[in-house]
Amino acid sequence: MNEFGKCFRIGIFGSSHGPCVGAKVEGCPAGSRISEAAIQIELDRRSPGKGPISTARKERDRLEILSGIRNGKATGGPIVGLVRNVDKDSSSYDAFLRVPRPGHADYTAMVKYGGHHDHRGGGQFSGRMTAGLVIGGAIARQVLQKKGVSFLAQTVQIGKVLLKKEVPFSIAERIVRKNPVGCADRDTAEMMKEEIVRAHEEKDSVGGVVRCTILGLPVGVGEPFFWSVESAVSAMMFSIPAVKGVEFGSGFRCASMKGSEHNDPFAARGGQVVTKTNYSGGVLGGLTNGMPVDFRVAFKPTSSIGKPQMSLDVTTKKPVQLEITGRHDPCIVPRAVPVVENSAAAVILDLMLQGGMT
Ligand SMILES: Cc1cc2nc3c(=O)[nH]c(=O)nc-3n(C[C@H](O)[C@H](O)[C@H](O)COP(=O)(O)O)c2cc1C
Repeated sequence: MNEFGKCFRIGIFGSSHGPCVGAKVEGCPAGSRISEAAIQIELDRRSPGKGPISTARKERDRLEILSGIRNGKATGGPIVGLVRNVDKDSSSYDAFLRVPRPGHADYTAMVKYGGHHDHRGGGQFSGRMTAGLVIGGAIARQVLQKKGVSFLAQTVQIGKVLLKKEVPFSIAERIVRKNPVGCADRDTAEMMKEEIVRAHEEKDSVGGVVRCTILGLPVGVGEPFFWSVESAVSAMMFSIPAVKGVEFGSGFRCASMKGSEHNDPFAARGGQVVTKTNYSGGVLGGLTNGMPVDFRVAFKPTSSIGKPQMSLDVTTKKPVQLEITGRHDPCIVPRAVPVVENSAAAVILDLMLQGGMT
């Protein structure tokens, strides 16, 4: 059930305070060159412990590949990769079985699993599970890199701070990896960081938006209906905890545009068919059209906040004031940037394999 994809399939396992989290990946073409060091670089981008803008939990997230890669190449068998959980402190979580955190999965999980779920650290609902997505995605990304497909996710909004300029892909790629919030403009990155620190000091949290661009895709990736690029990518993005919105190209703004404004005019550039604008986000009829695939993912503000808030004791049905003391990210967005980027690669490789395009 915890599996995504038809031909390139990622199953994630583990829990936040159990022994490990990781992924089982099936369908990686045998003989693909897979560098474990490259997967580690992506895991490091996601890992916690980046000062006041992320949780104080300290996890080195050292990758262990148990099977499926030999002598730097995919064997064709299942690839199993994991990271161990080391810095576990489950002391504050029992209370949430009685008094669920507003905005978190404590209540829904308790009802669905009758209290048998592993609730420590959020269990399977923890953002830590996304380490598995990064492992699987970073494998797909390496396969696609050989085919000239590249991925860039960047933070374009944190709270009320927006990135107002368009930074070219090659420059953005460098800057995004060099600042802790993953924004392509240094000054805006600084303001975003301040926004997170301010929220943290107020024992509160902020949300934001990650934009992802995919370059180098041929025309025709995707299927017309259920496995359209939009539906498959969105299904993956909405699987990432705390995601509340996904939009392609013009997204919800399309509703207020005229057809004459929104239609992307076709043109020829260097012998290639292109469109002059990209309101479609690089997808027409569910299929890539050769333009950059461009989508945005909205993350809600972290639900676990120290600020007092009202909840309910579900056993007595009496209102209770809750002050959450555990270690939490004051903003999920910076750590979600590599999650969006790598998990998008897993979806695209799956669609290309489905379409016999690799
Ligand atoms: C990278 C990442 C880190 C997260 N860190 C936290 C956190 O520290 N505290 C928290 O309450 N939620 C955190 N979340 C979000 C929760 O996992 C999520 O809100 C919760 O499972 C409820 O699911 P939902 O928001 O999708 O409804 C994180 C999510 C991601 C992707």
